[in-house]
Amino acid sequence: MRILGIESSCDETSASVVSGTADAPKLESLVILSQDVHRIFGGVVPEIASREHLTAVVPVTRQALADAGCELRDVEAIAVTHAPGLVGALLVGVSYAKALAHALDVPVLGVHHMEGHIFATALEHPTATPPFTALLVSGGHTMLLDVPAWGRYRLLGETRDDAAGEAFDKTAKLLGLPYPGGRHIEALAKTGDPARFRFARPMLHGGQRPGDDDYFDLSFSGLKTAVLHAVRASADLEADKPHIARAFQDAVIETLVAKTLRAARAEGRTRIVLGGGVACNKTLARAMAEAASAIGGEVFAPTPRLATDNAAMIAAAGLFRFEQGQRDGPTLNAHSSRPLPGLIDAGAPAH
Ligand code: KG4
Ligand code: ZN
Repeated sequence: MRILGIESSCDETSASVVSGTADAPKLESLVILSQDVHRIFGGVVPEIASREHLTAVVPVTRQALADAGCELRDVEAIAVTHAPGLVGALLVGVSYAKALAHALDVPVLGVHHMEGHIFATALEHPTATPPFTALLVSGGHTMLLDVPAWGRYRLLGETRDDAAGEAFDKTAKLLGLPYPGGRHIEALAKTGDPARFRFARPMLHGGQRPGDDDYFDLSFSGLKTAVLHAVRASADLEADKPHIARAFQDAVIETLVAKTLRAARAEGRTRIVLGGGVACNKTLARAMAEAASAIGGEVFAPTPRLATDNAAMIAAAGLFRFEQGQRDGPTLNAHSSRPLPGLIDAGAPAH
């Protein structure tokens, strides 16, 4: 089986060829074109994103096919992100995928972007397979999931306000760092003194018990405000910047690690899979691995090209959905938000 994946939900135009089966996928090629233009505006401008996708989607797909050493006629199915994301941006990928599928007479499959993130890590870590606890942390989403099997997802917790990546980006902006700010915060935090500033761990305290509705949930907007106050109160912001970045990152990481470990323990999981752009943060991956080893667990973090938005994860999830019998047709549409497919009730049995 050879599947072509297409991703255009935000500011990356990406295409990828994946072969094999959902249990043993093989990454044949992956091309990601990051739209640099948004840096000028300090955030993604939807209309510009759509236009950039339009000019990029065909050459990016051609390159992915060439890198995989195949041609369009070798493609047996096309998987495309159809939700969630910027509708105009999604529509470019969806329209192109549908046209291509029609011309080639192969099935087209709409894939949920966040299901893609769940599959990404297994492309380079063959043992990052269910059952596992998944922490998906990106610019738009923050989800803590139990994954008893591919296609079965129990949403344990999510952010109540800002996404983790959004908090990194907003903090970076307050510190005068470029967009997207996550990696700049991480770099700056390396020289920060952890004792100079301390921010409260959001939605994390010892009094929380399993069953409490804030036991797994996350929140980052208060932390952002705390950073704002620290910035305003600073007499020498240039000198304080690394310390503030460090204090911010420590608060985010401690919270993410604690909640993820709670989830793993609650469900008896020993594997923890990270996904989304914030999973590029090595300090987070290291802290998670350290905490997991204390319970005999193992952490799988994807390399940056598979952590951030990419079409390989869409192809991999598409391969699974294809095997499950999913086939979409010309009525496939783009949706700005949609629940993750395969969500199971939080109280349902794990297997
Ligand atoms: O998954 P992604 O590429 O796009 C979305 O679906 O949002 O994630 C982008 C996010 C941005 O907020 C960016 O600042 C963050 O991932 N990010 C990081 C790091 N690298 C990227 N956050 C923290 N540390 C990093 N090293
Ligand atoms: Zn994403």
